[in-house]
Amino acid sequence: MRLEGRTALVTGAARGIGLAFCEAYAREGARVVLGDIDTDRAASAARGIGGGACAVRMDVTDQASIESAVAEAEPDILVNNAALFDAAPIVDITRASYDRLFAVNVAGTLFTLQAAAKGMIARGRGGKIINMASQAGRRGESLVAVYCATKAAVISLTQSAGLNLIAHGINVNAIAPGVVEGEHWDGVDALFARHEGKAPGQKKREVAAAVPFGRMGTADDLTGMAVFLASPESDYVVGQTFGVDGGNWLA
Ligand SMILES: NC(=O)c1ccc[n+]([C@@H]2O[C@H](COP(=O)([O-])OP(=O)(O)OC[C@H]3O[C@@H](n4cnc5c(N)ncnc54)[C@H](O)[C@@H]3O)[C@@H](O)[C@H]2O)c1
Repeated sequence: MRLEGRTALVTGAARGIGLAFCEAYAREGARVVLGDIDTDRAASAARGIGGGACAVRMDVTDQASIESAVAEAEPDILVNNAALFDAAPIVDITRASYDRLFAVNVAGTLFTLQAAAKGMIARGRGGKIINMASQAGRRGESLVAVYCATKAAVISLTQSAGLNLIAHGINVNAIAPGVVEGEHWDGVDALFARHEGKAPGQKKREVAAAVPFGRMGTADDLTGMAVFLASPESDYVVGQTFGVDGGNWLA
């Protein structure tokens, strides 16, 4: 029960990695608040977790929505998890795709972090902020320029916010997953099938075979790091991005 007495707000928590983090935090005794634009699914996920878990409608591209969700949750722990993915050759990238990915992945992360930090500073008990980066933020990828750039920005924001907020006892760190099974990767696979002329499922098999650990990750592979970064055990950890990727990327 390492998180007893704490409240965690996780954005994009209706499914996938965010939902697994909520389940793990609840097991450690935290009250969890699932923020998502998919309110029906977030509400049913919260009922599945039980205890004091609840869902809140939250669109991380909308400042009023961010502020009302953060005011309702009053989180001690924030996970900036909501994100969008897209893939296209450089010459086909649209401004609409660029604007949408940066609005959710970068501005959504910064302004949710800001709103949560203001509350944490006002309450004077410190806090834990965890941003979801990606191995894609460590290097460019031929068809994934915009998503890679958003995740590089998340790594950079994690460093700056980590340095700025540690004076208030707020730790800001990030997790960089590799390739994680789930609906997100089903969508990625479909995009690669279109752009690289692959059969459905082929890209997934290729990336799984390339992971040094020997398989794709699961959301549950990431929860140990998520709990560590939310707990007092990480008090001296500032502005870091941790790869949890089966060995895909080495610093
Ligand atoms: N799955 C992977 O392989 C992988 C790898 C590296 C990094 N990541 C990162 O991990 C995080 C979670 O990934 P996932 O696979 O669980 O994603 P996912 O696509 O399964 O879930 C994303 C959730 O975010 C929600 N969302 C989308 N736009 C939103 C908005 N504007 N406001 C609030 N919620 C919104 C969606 O409704 C969905 O529930 C993301 O930041 C992703 O970039 C995932």
